[in-house]
Amino acid sequence: MATVRTIASHVWPLGTTFDEDDVLQLGGCDARELAREFGTPAYIVVEDDLRTRARAFLDAFARHADDHEVHFASKSFPCTAVLRVMAEEGLACDVASGGELALALRAGFDPARVHLHGNAKSEQELRDAVAAGIGDIVIDNLDEFEKLERVIEPGSRQRVLLRIAPGVSPDTHPKISTGGPNTKFGFSIRDAWAAIERAEASDRFALDGLHMHIGSQIFDLEPFRAALEAMAQLGEFRTWNLGGGLGVAYTHEQKAPSIEDYVRTKVELVEEVIGPGRRIADEPGRALVAHSTVTLYTVQSIKRNVATWVGVDGGMSDNLRPMLYGARYEAHVVGKPGGGTVCHLTGKHCESGDVLVHDADLNDPRPGDVIATPVTGAYGYAMSNNYNGVPRPPVVFVKDGDARVVVRRETYDDLFGRDVDPDA
Ligand code: LLP
Repeated sequence: MATVRTIASHVWPLGTTFDEDDVLQLGGCDARELAREFGTPAYIVVEDDLRTRARAFLDAFARHADDHEVHFASKSFPCTAVLRVMAEEGLACDVASGGELALALRAGFDPARVHLHGNAKSEQELRDAVAAGIGDIVIDNLDEFEKLERVIEPGSRQRVLLRIAPGVSPDTHPKISTGGPNTKFGFSIRDAWAAIERAEASDRFALDGLHMHIGSQIFDLEPFRAALEAMAQLGEFRTWNLGGGLGVAYTHEQKAPSIEDYVRTKVELVEEVIGPGRRIADEPGRALVAHSTVTLYTVQSIKRNVATWVGVDGGMSDNLRPMLYGARYEAHVVGKPGGGTVCHLTGKHCESGDVLVHDADLNDPRPGDVIATPVTGAYGYAMSNNYNGVPRPPVVFVKDGDARVVVRRETYDDLFGRDVDPDA
């Protein structure tokens, strides 16, 4: 009998199917077998999804802008193997700390195509970045000028951009809105004039352009116009770095702008508001990695009181986003698609806020069932932690029916690996 393979909704990684027994297949691998082989919780990353979206950004920019650079915002999935994929696909890289810089270099990015951000960079981070031969440093505040000058050799110049907060707030969660008038990031338009003068007066800097990043998980692209209009008054520059921000659909009823629409809109806005022939840089994070990944859990307990509580073996240690931003996810019982049991999918952590999905609609969940939550690639691994001494999950790449661990599961030894024994 021919195998029935149902194509999954757009929240799942590209190429996801369900087999004749309705079992989820990720990158050609059976989700139940992945759970058995690698344990749960586990981040399962569909490599082709990562590569396809990286190419979609590059292709869209190549279609619309002559001079452009696409930077992977490494904070969204700071894992060497993911960074390596982005480097192989030809992206540049944005890092926001010395640690992310170390990861980017280890993953093989050409230092000249790495760009350093941060609102509180230390002198050591700046020194390491300059020593590595980093492409741009994005200066965020007046205190950074002197610190940076101190680590640049006399006679040489470091290419810099200035981060500007254009005073525009997109429609997103306040915790991830970054370009408004009252923000910790960048120079206000009022202070930008002095910052530009300061950068141009220094013999250690080559001021290449301006940078903005107004926020993340943005669906309505209109605020980019107001942001660019605010920036346009600051003068003529070669490079305009527009930050990231493209939102993604976390549930099947959501519809995010396409990569094509986002890129075309941004490029057209630069041409219209700033002028033609500019170098346009963009820093997508979430839209590159979110859909690539599905987290697998195993149900450990089911409780019924006022509501039904389905407890799994992970939670806020592997996905903080529901707790921090009220982010909504879908959940699915592997092998039993559909719903019928409305329940709260909870983690194993010692607080009531540890709920992964409120009012999830699951099909008859039972202890031992494998649960899959899609769209966990962005800022899941990135913000994972050891709350309650829970070892962090492995990262498993799947491709063409093969699975390989790229980050192993933490062990209890890792939990005490940094202890300094007073008796040693
Ligand atoms: N560039 C800069 C300077 C940024 O600060 C960010 C994200 C990006 C680019 C990438 O933005 P994206 O394309 O991913 O929207 N932890 C939060 C997200 C924080 C975003 C921080 N900055 C979350 O889980 O929603």
